[in-house]
Formats: sequence, structure tokens, C-alpha cells
Amino acid sequence: MHNDISKILFSEQDLANRVREMGENITADYAAMAGPEGIVVISILRGGAIFTCDLVRAIDMPLEMDFMAVSSYGNGVKSSGVVRILKDLNTDIRGRHVIIAEDIIDSGLTLKYLMQNLQSRGPASMTVAALMKKNTENQADIECRYVGFECPDEFIVGYGLDYAERYRNLPYIGVLKPEIYQ
Ligand code: PRP
Repeated sequence: MHNDISKILFSEQDLANRVREMGENITADYAAMAGPEGIVVISILRGGAIFTCDLVRAIDMPLEMDFMAVSSYGNGVKSSGVVRILKDLNTDIRGRHVIIAEDIIDSGLTLKYLMQNLQSRGPASMTVAALMKKNTENQADIECRYVGFECPDEFIVGYGLDYAERYRNLPYIGVLKPEIYQ
């Protein structure tokens, strides 16, 4: 275990097992409905990238991957709800079945904004696959059909999640020691 981590919350094996299940559930739900055109999986950079790459390999049906990069305005600690699109989709999602893949829902404000934005482009359907959902007070109401893990309100890093751009490459999700960020 990395020296800056106090405990492992979800091990590499926990993540692999749960992401495989999520992929199987998505395949079962969408394979018939989406037909040969398949679905569009939108990964929200940067935190969602590693989860998305594992998730799509667990989905057994035609799919397209696309990426969006967003940044929240604010003090950097909590989402402000005002989101700026840094990189938009290349794909026209009109009439398509869309799944947004996110690493974590905290306030839910990032996804709330994104879903409103994407909904205006006329997809056939849209939902969210989130690896983790924090139990946050006043969380925005998000239509999130697939949740990997409910997550405690701790400072977590790894498997895509960073602190000051570090730790994204840890293969597990762990709790960062307070002395690292205090
Ligand atoms: C994180 C995460 C979500 C968002 C969730 O991204 O990847 O996009 O925050 O928070 P919310 O539910 O309170 O809106 P972050 O802004 O840290 O950027 P990153 O993915 O590039 O690390």
C-alpha cells in the first residue's frame, strides 16, 4: 500500500468484480433495446477515465466511447454547480442511448448541469453509471441507474481520483492520510 494512504476502501479485486457486474447489468438492460447501433458511453474526464475504460470492456454489445472534460468554477473544494465545458463531444447523441460514466457523485451538481446540457441535444435515453456515490446532504437528484458503491465521506484517491493531480494511478481506492492535505 502507498505510504500516503491510511486504508484501502475498495481493493483492486473489489473494483474489478463490481465493474464487471455493472457491465453485465448494462448489457442485459440495453442489448435488445439499443439494437445494432448500440449505446454511447460518455466518460467525464479526468476522474472517470479509468473507470470508463474498465466498464466498457465489461459491456458486451456495440458501443461508442466519447469524452467530455468539464471544470467547476468555485473555490476548488466543493462544486459550485457552474460548469464550464473544456472539451465537448465529437459524437452527435441525438436519438442515441447514452450512459454517462462518472467516478463519483458528491454534491451531484456537476452531473446535474451535464445532464441538462446533454438532454437538450435530444438523446433517445440518458442515464448515469457512477462508480461511487457519496451520501451527501442535499445531493442533487440525479437519474443514476448504476451505482458501484455507496461511499463514506472521506478523502479518497486512486483508480482515477486525485489529490492535487496525484494518486490517480493507484489500482485501488484508498483514504488519504490527513497530514497529506492539511
Ligand atoms: C470530480 C468527479 C466529478 C465531480 C463530482 O471531478 O470526477 O466530476 O468532482 O462532484 P460533485 O458531485 O460535487 O459535482 P473534479 O472536479 O475533481 O475533476 P477531475 O475529475 O478532473 O479530477
